[in-house]
Amino acid sequence: MDRVVIITGSTRGIGFATAAEFLRNGDRVVIFCRHGVHGERAGKRLLPLSPSENMLTLSGDIRRGKDVKNIVGRCLKHFGRIDILINNAGIAAYQTIDETSERQWDDILDTNLKGTFLFLREVLPAMRRQGGGTIINISSAMGVQGEAKFSAYCASKFGVIGLTQAVADETSGSGIRVYAVLPWAVDTTLLAGTDLGLDPSKVLSPEYVAGKIFKAAGGRRKSGSLLEVYP
Ligand SMILES: NC(=O)c1ccc[n+]([C@@H]2O[C@H](COP(=O)([O-])OP(=O)(O)OC[C@H]3O[C@@H](n4cnc5c(N)ncnc54)[C@H](OP(=O)(O)O)[C@@H]3O)[C@@H](O)[C@H]2O)c1
Repeated sequence: MDRVVIITGSTRGIGFATAAEFLRNGDRVVIFCRHGVHGERAGKRLLPLSPSENMLTLSGDIRRGKDVKNIVGRCLKHFGRIDILINNAGIAAYQTIDETSERQWDDILDTNLKGTFLFLREVLPAMRRQGGGTIINISSAMGVQGEAKFSAYCASKFGVIGLTQAVADETSGSGIRVYAVLPWAVDTTLLAGTDLGLDPSKVLSPEYVAGKIFKAAGGRRKSGSLLEVYP
């Protein structure tokens, strides 16, 4: 489809499956995470799906403004535009509020919520210049329903929904659409770090969620919409 897509945290899990989905459909994708070596490995695995010129592999930490600026700048220099931003990178910790250290709280909020803010702020001017674009923020089913042992994670994912709706309101009439996707449990490294005792038949595959994200990127829903992805 030849759109330019930035996907944060795209070296494994939902982000990787989403990168594969866009590349398979002829879009151009920027993939990255904090570790250059993970990016290179992911890039090699994605190569059979699309010509190498459709992929830009970088590294950076979404918690740092200067990394975010660098990634967006490199994307604009390389591909000349940004049609779709998917704020996907995220972390979780499975522990009670009493066990949560200040540092862990900051890490989770800085990654899941501040990282989404930093990318939104950096990408919106380019989308305004282009006259439109689509932004998908990955929240969670835990972004509307709190759950024991996920206090920092739930706080961050509720925040992502508020941020999505505020920015959708702020950008109304600009051609920019902002959505939040709320997946139920997905079979990834993030989920493996928890002990929820879930029925495996109810756990979604990253590819299934990627298909829903790809469809949402078509931009047919009203800006500010929340898309729940359940089994
Ligand atoms: N799995 C679930 O059950 C589930 C359910 C609902 C929502 N979600 C959400 O879906 C999103 C993806 O989760 P996932 O399950 O696919 O997790 P995952 O398998 O752990 O993948 C997370 C990705 O984000 C990257 N990342 C983490 N911190 C980063 C940072 N500061 N800067 C740049 N990249 C960073 C990781 O790479 P590095 O660590 O190498 O940087 C990795 O590529 C998250 O927002 C998560 O909250 C997941």
